[in-house]
Amino acid sequence: MTTNKLQALILSVALATTASAKTKQPGATSTQPDWFQTSPNSYAGTTATGSAPFLAETNPAPFGQSTFIPNAPLETSEPIEGAHGRNIFQLMGDQSPYFSPAEGFGVDEYPLPKGAQITQMHMLQRHGSRYPSSSEGLDSWAAGIVNASNQFTGKLNFLNDWSYKLGKEILVPKGRQELFDSGILNYYNYGHLYDNSSKLVIRTTLQSRMLESAENFLAGFFGLEWRNHANILATIDSATTGEYACTKAGETMEASVATPVGTWMATYLKERTAELKKLTGNYDWTITDTYHAQSLCPYETISVGYSDFCDIFTYEDWEGYEYLMDIEFAAISGFLSPTGRAQGLYWVEEFLARVEGHILNVPANTTGANITLDTNPVTFPLNQSLYLEFTHDANIVSVLTAFGFTQFADFLPLTGPPKNQQFSASRLVPFAGRFNIEIIKSPHKVSPTRSSKSSAKDYISGTGETHYVHFIQNQRTVPLHDSFGACGKRDDGWCELSTFLKVQKESLAKAEYQYACFGNWTMKDYGAVRNGVPA
Ligand SMILES: *[C@@H]1O[C@H](CO)[C@@H](O)[C@H](O)[C@H]1NC(C)=O
Ligand SMILES: *[C@@H]1O[C@H](CO)[C@@H](O)[C@H](O)[C@H]1NC(C)=O
Ligand SMILES: *[C@@H]1O[C@H](CO)[C@@H](O)[C@H](O)[C@H]1NC(C)=O
Ligand SMILES: *[C@@H]1O[C@H](CO)[C@@H](O)[C@H](O)[C@H]1NC(C)=O
Ligand SMILES: *[C@@H]1O[C@H](CO)[C@@H](O)[C@H](O)[C@H]1NC(C)=O
Ligand SMILES: *[C@@H]1O[C@H](CO)[C@@H](O)[C@H](O)[C@H]1NC(C)=O
Repeated sequence: MTTNKLQALILSVALATTASAKTKQPGATSTQPDWFQTSPNSYAGTTATGSAPFLAETNPAPFGQSTFIPNAPLETSEPIEGAHGRNIFQLMGDQSPYFSPAEGFGVDEYPLPKGAQITQMHMLQRHGSRYPSSSEGLDSWAAGIVNASNQFTGKLNFLNDWSYKLGKEILVPKGRQELFDSGILNYYNYGHLYDNSSKLVIRTTLQSRMLESAENFLAGFFGLEWRNHANILATIDSATTGEYACTKAGETMEASVATPVGTWMATYLKERTAELKKLTGNYDWTITDTYHAQSLCPYETISVGYSDFCDIFTYEDWEGYEYLMDIEFAAISGFLSPTGRAQGLYWVEEFLARVEGHILNVPANTTGANITLDTNPVTFPLNQSLYLEFTHDANIVSVLTAFGFTQFADFLPLTGPPKNQQFSASRLVPFAGRFNIEIIKSPHKVSPTRSSKSSAKDYISGTGETHYVHFIQNQRTVPLHDSFGACGKRDDGWCELSTFLKVQKESLAKAEYQYACFGNWTMKDYGAVRNGVPA
């Protein structure tokens, strides 16, 4: 506590200094660089735009169905064999357009008891729907298909006059919408926490889709005049996102997924590949072709509104696709990755610092956090009630891992999904996926048994003010007791703040950051690691 007080004192001195520096904005000053400048931008990355959609002309709906479902804006009502009304667009892993999982994460939702208040909200939000990454190789695959046209038959007949219309990396219109919607949703939920006497500092990176995600969110949250209310601190993506700061994570990424993903792909797509191969003439159609065709369903749908690739596949094929994504993310930055905890540790430590009200006080190079930024109150403010940050899918998974959400640590066998699987890429990190952490101040302890009818009985009489953490992933509560026994089982899944902080103090040591990121260890076979640190 005394160190916190000391830091608060240093902070107040620093605040006074920076306040005068900031009056000289917008230009840079000699003491403070212009942290919030986002243009011109030399770090936007690849920014290829795709063809303009023409869904009014290309949409085959209503597919002979008697009920007409208008596109909203995507056309996703095509009949899928075996779906029985279930939605394949929620089985696309990180390529699923945003959705809130209807089944939740194991607990029900409850209103705040009367008199309790939300005092802070910390959000980590993924960018919205985007064109394929350059590394996915869909454009070169498409060139081969176009070269081979006039040989496709049956349900691949459409390939004879198909062309590739997608751009690369940047947000598609649906992605803009997802972030704008999230801004509006978060404003309704938390707008009251914004103190309009100063601008919020929000964090993202300069990569095009990241910056535009933040901007669209802010336009939703504040309206088009958002620049009057928020400053964007945008760092260089490749230098600042967890998986890149951690050398070993980058080095082992390929090795961590190649075998498990390849194995599962060959398994679940075997039958479909044999079927499609008969429809491709002289073109030597392989498992990889089937997989690329399947990926084009989500990508074409979000990019041009509809895709002929979707209904080539059955509902079961889409369950296989989802499981492939689950394996991929668990192995890249989840508990099945030797660097899973290390990659996300910086955010856990930043969260602890903000909640405790001090600048980051961990030694340099022990968490992946940028000490220059995180010890400067201009770039690491502590006086906000809202902390908004934008990031990537793998990064959100790694932060959940670094927190120690072992409820998502299930082992994923390469023979097929385990019973009662909890780790799901689509439910955790769909496009525009996010978590919101609420800090709640309650006049009394809240009973672990919550009544769905009356909130009058929610308090435990004779108890004093108590603070809680409520963790929400894609609008559903993640029960903290499932992973952190010390929280004690609660209907509402909350945890007392003091308990949660105590548990999280152990995250730093558990991540073994220096060893995991820079140590001399070798990559073991898939499955050797189950706890997010090197075996
Ligand atoms: C185009 O097809 C021919 C055979 O029809 C093949 O030899 C050639 O490699 C193909 N080119 C590409 C880019 O796939
Ligand atoms: C800030 O909020 C106060 C109280 O709600 C209001 O009177 C004031 O006009 C607001 N200022 C701005 C700049 O929005
Ligand atoms: C927070 O501190 C910054 C200085 O770093 C100052 O500009 C801003 O007005 C403060 N905001 C609030 C809400 O007090
Ligand atoms: C962190 O430490 C490792 C060695 O342990 C070193 O290779 C790396 O350059 C350091 N990174 C920074 C940003 O200082
Ligand atoms: C921290 O961020 C600053 C400002 O963006 C940058 O200049 C510096 O290189 C970063 N440091 C590390 C270790 O990444
Ligand atoms: C790393 O470990 C391997 C095998 O354990 C060893 O052969 C090698 O010399 C080590 N490298 C360094 C730089 O310590």
